[in-house]
Amino acid sequence: MELNLISLWFFIWVILVRTVDCFKAEPYSFTKNELNQYKDQVKELFYHGFNSYLEYGYPYDEVLPIACVPMKRRFDDPYDTNTNDVLGNFTTTLVDSFTTLAVLGDKKGFADAINLFHKTVPETFDIDSTVQLFETTIRLLGGMMSAHIYATDPRTKVYLGKDNYDGFLLRRCIALGDKLLMAYLSPTGLPVPRINLRYGTRIDPKLIEENNAAATASPLFEFRLLSMLTLNDTYREVSEFSFNRTWDLRSELNLVPMSFSPYDTTIYNEVTGIGASIDSFYETALKGSILFDDSWLYSVWETAISALNSYSKTDWFYSNVGVSHGKTVVLWIDSLSAFFPGLLTLDGRLEDARKKHIMFSKLWSTYGGIPERWNFVQSPPTTEELDSPSLSIDLEWYPLRPEFIESTYYLYRATKDVYYLNIGIRILKDLQHRFKTRCGFAGLQDVTTGEVQDRMESFVLGETLKYLYLLFDEDNELHTTLWNHIFSTEAHPFWIDVGLKRRYESYRREADPPHVTTEMYQFHLLKAKNWMRRTKSPNRRINHAKKKLDGQCISPELAYTKRQSNRQGFQDSDVLSDPKLFEIDFRYQATLEQPAWNKGYIPFELTPELYSHWSFSQQKICLVPLTKAFEGTIGSRDPDSTLISTHQWSSDARMYRFQSIYGIKIAFLDFTWHPNSIEVQDPNSKFDLYDVLNKQNCKPKDDTSIHTYTVTAIDGIDLGDNDVVVVNKSSLFFDDSSKESYISINRKSQLLINCIPITNIFVL
Ligand SMILES: *[C@@H]1O[C@H](CO)[C@@H](O)[C@H](O)[C@H]1NC(C)=O
Ligand SMILES: *[C@@H]1O[C@H](CO)[C@@H](O)[C@H](O)[C@H]1NC(C)=O
Ligand SMILES: *[C@@H]1O[C@H](CO)[C@@H](O)[C@H](O)[C@H]1NC(C)=O
Ligand SMILES: *[C@@H]1O[C@H](CO)[C@@H](O)[C@H](O)[C@H]1NC(C)=O
Repeated sequence: MELNLISLWFFIWVILVRTVDCFKAEPYSFTKNELNQYKDQVKELFYHGFNSYLEYGYPYDEVLPIACVPMKRRFDDPYDTNTNDVLGNFTTTLVDSFTTLAVLGDKKGFADAINLFHKTVPETFDIDSTVQLFETTIRLLGGMMSAHIYATDPRTKVYLGKDNYDGFLLRRCIALGDKLLMAYLSPTGLPVPRINLRYGTRIDPKLIEENNAAATASPLFEFRLLSMLTLNDTYREVSEFSFNRTWDLRSELNLVPMSFSPYDTTIYNEVTGIGASIDSFYETALKGSILFDDSWLYSVWETAISALNSYSKTDWFYSNVGVSHGKTVVLWIDSLSAFFPGLLTLDGRLEDARKKHIMFSKLWSTYGGIPERWNFVQSPPTTEELDSPSLSIDLEWYPLRPEFIESTYYLYRATKDVYYLNIGIRILKDLQHRFKTRCGFAGLQDVTTGEVQDRMESFVLGETLKYLYLLFDEDNELHTTLWNHIFSTEAHPFWIDVGLKRRYESYRREADPPHVTTEMYQFHLLKAKNWMRRTKSPNRRINHAKKKLDGQCISPELAYTKRQSNRQGFQDSDVLSDPKLFEIDFRYQATLEQPAWNKGYIPFELTPELYSHWSFSQQKICLVPLTKAFEGTIGSRDPDSTLISTHQWSSDARMYRFQSIYGIKIAFLDFTWHPNSIEVQDPNSKFDLYDVLNKQNCKPKDDTSIHTYTVTAIDGIDLGDNDVVVVNKSSLFFDDSSKESYISINRKSQLLINCIPITNIFVL
């Protein structure tokens, strides 16, 4: 059905192209050469950041992008968790960059980087650092393991061969994995959030009393692969047990609470959503099901996503709801949740993915980045807050997180919609011109003021630039081969080759009982299971999967349901042809206001480049490149009148501030038109040519090309057949300086675009 519509639509386009002379039949989209140029620019940015780290940050964990000095762990202040959770004094940035070098195909850089790590960080990870289990797993363990896979798979560009690489990274993974296992020694089998690499859980109990669903579920992804690579199921057992226990905490509505005690599962925060503290729980279920071909994990994902879709999904985002009643309880969304459209794409849920992604593009357009937390509805301000300019921003920083570009990448791979490349180019330019500093990239400390932040977390090189590079790199081995790779939550590519799968399966068959390999873990799991049996948990209800995978492997390539090649330009863009594209601007206009420092930043979907560069030349008339909001009134047309004057409506007229005119459709195409008899909306009125056309710029072209437009929607407000829009002339933006100017007004006060009248827009 969908296919038919598309081809019908395409057919109409072809007719227009053929018959209307002003449509030049010159489709435009990216050439390979252009994509390569963008790709090379991303590469340059990566090396700028990475070499700065090597020069000014190494051997510490990060480099400060402005001060050009190392960002070190605060050994003196164990309570500065913000710093210390990821900075274990184990060269975090270096390790998180391994697989970006691999993705770039830089074999020498890759080999140098892992060897540098080899000689810097203690083999045993015996470091007196208290770090987060979750962050250390995804950045360090995941980074080393993925690099090990790259280095040992002869099919990769950075394959090092047995002579150059003895597998030391895997030994490091075991050493670190064994340290991390200490976190799981709780009575519930749920890990505590932090451990000291040397002293285990012998740390201040205050640091480990609360954990969250993302942290207790996600290590399964890395740990299970570690079990496969080492043929030792301890890692899998312990982390899968914890994943299961996390899922057991779900409510009757199948909603998983965000945070709880790892000691007795007391729930601290019964709110849930898709952002911080819960995000990668879903990610692990879906991505784990694909990577490991595991129908149990897929059933968890399916049950979880349908619960979210029932209670948390709104038109444009997922809100935060109470797990017991499913009603919205807090009025904000997190920057981290920008990854979710990518995850939905991976599961073939494209329509939702596309819509939810638009929300984040609006946030970026408004704030020049994505605020850590944005209030979609402002609660009434308290008296102290009344002076505050930014009530809609709860948490105001944007540390160059990757999630938005990650989703953009997934959506582009799935749809080849040129709009997503457009976003990538803007982000690239912002990185080049807004965020680049002498020693790396600095994000925003405050999106409301534009204040910069002197920090470059390892995910900037590990994820943000990797996804951006891959967006432009059609020929990357990850795209052209069928390794069924899956990106970890830290963007490290994992894949399982046939040999590994067979070895592991035969290990599972032979090792009997395969599960528990040491007394310690036997004891631990037994204790945890007994504890579980004793606990009466009303939430523990095994929900059998509705849909089983039956051992069928869903590869990401299959999960991408709508892959289309030969996209031509923005006329093929699903996003840009969505009649609701501007609804968000309208609906959330109170909380989506560009801060003063970012005024003039043009939203992604309205950039002149987009239209001039990628469109059929005449197609750009369909959008007025307004860069300012303009005022207008919507009212009903007096059916007997062709001329509009201000007092023709009053009672039902509504005043709006618009951002753009959108959805102009060709209302009337008269191939036998004669200059004196054009019929527009009113069949009885005769238009004289110079009434219709503006004298100064518009000359009648070929008779056959004259037609009129009507506007069907403005900023997401659908217009009825009798609706007209009256625009305040002084608020309309005419870009006369540019040759691209094609806005004018005729004697009937109708707005003309490229000399073609819009019959339901009047400028007074
Ligand atoms: C932290 O790392 C640096 C550089 O490798 C090293 O010189 C220092 O001894 C380490 N500090 C601790 C407390 O481990
Ligand atoms: C598997 O890993 C655990 C945890 O590190 C370890 O105690 C055990 O000895 C390992 N088993 C084998 C067979 O190597
Ligand atoms: C987790 O739950 C699934 C489904 O009940 C089960 O097959 C699996 O063995 C469990 N894993 C562990 C480690 O308990
Ligand atoms: C039109 O806009 C100007 C400038 O913004 C304003 O002063 C004027 O009052 C507006 N006119 C109407 C009729 O709203």
